Amino acid sequence: MDKKITIAIDGFSSTGKSTLAKQLAKHLGYVYVDTGAMYRAITLHAMDNGFISEDYFNKQGLIDSLSDITLQFLYNPELEYAEVYLDEENVESRIRSLNVSNLVSRVAEVSEVRAKLVEQQKHMGENKGVVMDGRDIGTVVFPNAELKLFMTASPETRAQRRFEELTQKGDNVTYEDVLKNVQERDYIDSHRKDSPLVKAADAIEIDNSHLSIQEQFDRVLTLAKKHI
Ligand code: DC
Repeated sequence: MDKKITIAIDGFSSTGKSTLAKQLAKHLGYVYVDTGAMYRAITLHAMDNGFISEDYFNKQGLIDSLSDITLQFLYNPELEYAEVYLDEENVESRIRSLNVSNLVSRVAEVSEVRAKLVEQQKHMGENKGVVMDGRDIGTVVFPNAELKLFMTASPETRAQRRFEELTQKGDNVTYEDVLKNVQERDYIDSHRKDSPLVKAADAIEIDNSHLSIQEQFDRVLTLAKKHI
C-alpha cells in the first residue's frame, strides 16, 4: 500500500491553492482542508455578532465568544469536497463575499483565533493523507509535512481570477476593488506578528502566472509521488 503523506500548500490569496489542493486530494483519495474557509467563517461569526465592521473591531468580544463556536467540514458528494459549517449552518457561499474578504485578514491577526484553528487543523491532519492549504501550513501547522508548496502569481493575475469568480457568481464588484483587496491582504498577511505568510525554507515555489491548471497539477503530482 502507498505511504500516506501530508501536503502543505501555502501562498498569497487567489494563487489557485484550493484548485490544486482539491485536484490532489481527489486524485490521491486524501482529505482536503481549506484553512482560509475557517478564518473566513470566524470572520462571518464576528460580523453577524457585531464584533467587527469596516471601522470597528471589538477584539475582546470576539475572543470571549470563540469557545462557543463550532466549526466543521462536511463532505458534499456532489461537489466532491467538504463544505464549511459554522455551528449548524452551511456558510460556504456567505464566506466568499468581498465583505468577508475585506475583514478576514484583521481577524486572522488575532493570536487566540489562530491558536484555536491551528489546534483543530493539527487534529484533522493527524492521520496524514491530507492536503491542507493556507498561509502557515508548512511553517506552523505541519512543519514536518513531506511535501510543502509555496504558490505565487502576480497580483494582477490573481485579481483577474478572483474578479471573474465573483462576477460569475453575480457579485457586483469592480476589478479595481478586487485588486485593492488582494494587495491589502498580501500586505497584512505577510506583515502580521503571529505566523506571517512566509515561504518555509524547504517549500517548493510554484509561480503559476503562466501555467495551465493541468500543467500545474502534473508537475505537483510528480513531486508528490516521490514521497508516496
Ligand atoms: O485562502 P483565503 O483567501 O480564503 O484566506 C482568507 C484569509 O485567511 C487570508 O487573507 C489570510 C487568512 N488565513 C490565514 O491567516 N492563515 C491560514 N492558514 C489561512 C488563511
